[in-house]
Amino acid sequence: MPSFPKPKIPDAVVPPPLRKPAKPGSAGTPKGQAPTDLKETPERPSHGDKLLDQAKEAPIDALGWVDQRLAATGFLTGMLFRKVPKGTNWFYTLGSATLFAFIVQATTGVFLAMFYTPSATQAYSSIAHINNDVPLGQLVHGMHKWGSSVMVILIFLHMGRTFFFGAYKYPRELNWVIGVVLLILTMTMAFTGYLLPFDQRSFWASIVGININGTGPIVGPYLSDFLRAGPELGATTLSRFYAIHMLLVPGAIIALIGAHMYLVVKLGTTAPPWVKTERPKGAMPTSELEAGANGNGRVNGAAR
Ligand code: HEM
Repeated sequence: MPSFPKPKIPDAVVPPPLRKPAKPGSAGTPKGQAPTDLKETPERPSHGDKLLDQAKEAPIDALGWVDQRLAATGFLTGMLFRKVPKGTNWFYTLGSATLFAFIVQATTGVFLAMFYTPSATQAYSSIAHINNDVPLGQLVHGMHKWGSSVMVILIFLHMGRTFFFGAYKYPRELNWVIGVVLLILTMTMAFTGYLLPFDQRSFWASIVGININGTGPIVGPYLSDFLRAGPELGATTLSRFYAIHMLLVPGAIIALIGAHMYLVVKLGTTAPPWVKTERPKGAMPTSELEAGANGNGRVNGAAR
C-alpha cells in the first residue's frame, strides 16, 4: 500500500508549549505561592459545568456579535461618556424630561390607536369604550391626555433654560432653530389631538383654534381652510386632524429630535453663564490676544 505524506497541522490548533512554572519570588509567580505541579492532572469540568459556563457567556457573546457588526461601542462611548461643563445643574435635565414626555406620548398613543375610530359617528363612543371597557384604558387615556400638557410645559421650561443660559449663541444657533420647529410641532400635536374625542368641548374649541389660525397674515386664511378640510368642521376635519396627529407630525418630531440630539452630542452643552471658563495652561493672555500679538496684527502666526 502506498504511503501518503502526513498533512501539516495548522499552527492555530497546536496548543502553546507548557512552560515550567517560575520559582516563588521570581518574576511570574507571586511570592509565597507554590509552583503548580504539572504532573498533577487538574480536575476536568463536568459537562453540566461547561454548559453553565456557556450559558453565562451567552449574553456577552451575543452583544459582542452585534457590536462587531455595528461598531456600536465607539459610538456609545462617545455618546455616554461625554464631558459636561462645571456647574451643570438640574435645569439641564429639562431637555431629557421633554424627550421622556414625548416617548410616553408616543407609547400611550400607539395603544390608544388600537381602539380609537377616527370617524365622526364613532370617535366619541370609541373613547367611551376605551375609558369604560378596555383594561387599563382609562389609565392609558389619562396618561396621554395629561402627558400632552406635561410635554408642553416641559418644552417651554427647556426653551427658557437654553435662552437664559445663552445656549442659543454660536455655535448652537442651528439647534435653537430646530428647537423652535420642535416647539411648533409640539403645539400642533396638542391642537390636533384635542379634536379627536369629538365631544362638544373639543368640537367648539377646535372651531375657535381654526378661526384664530385664519386671522394670521397672508397664509392665515389658507391655513384655516387647510385645517377645516371643507366649508364646516366635520368628518373630513377629523380625518385630516387624525392624519396630522398620527403620521405627519410624529414622524417630523422623531427626525428633528434625532438632529437635535446629534448636535447636542457633537457640540456639547453650554456651561452656565456664571461659570468662568479656564484658559488652558500656556495659552496666550487674553489682553495680548485683544491687542493683536506683537502689534503686527497676527495672532499665533495667523492673520486676524
Ligand atoms: C421635543 C422637544 C425637545 C426635546 C426632546 C429636546 C431635547 C434636548 C436635550 C435632551 C438636550 C440636551 C440636554 C439639555 O440641555 O437639556 C437639548 C439641548 C438643547 N435644546 Fe432641546 N429639546 C426640545 C426642544 C427644544 C426647543 C423648543 C428649543 C428652543 C427653541 C431647544 C433648544 C435647545 C438648545 C439650544 C440646546 C443646547 C443646550 C446647551 O448647549 O446647553 N430644544 N434639547
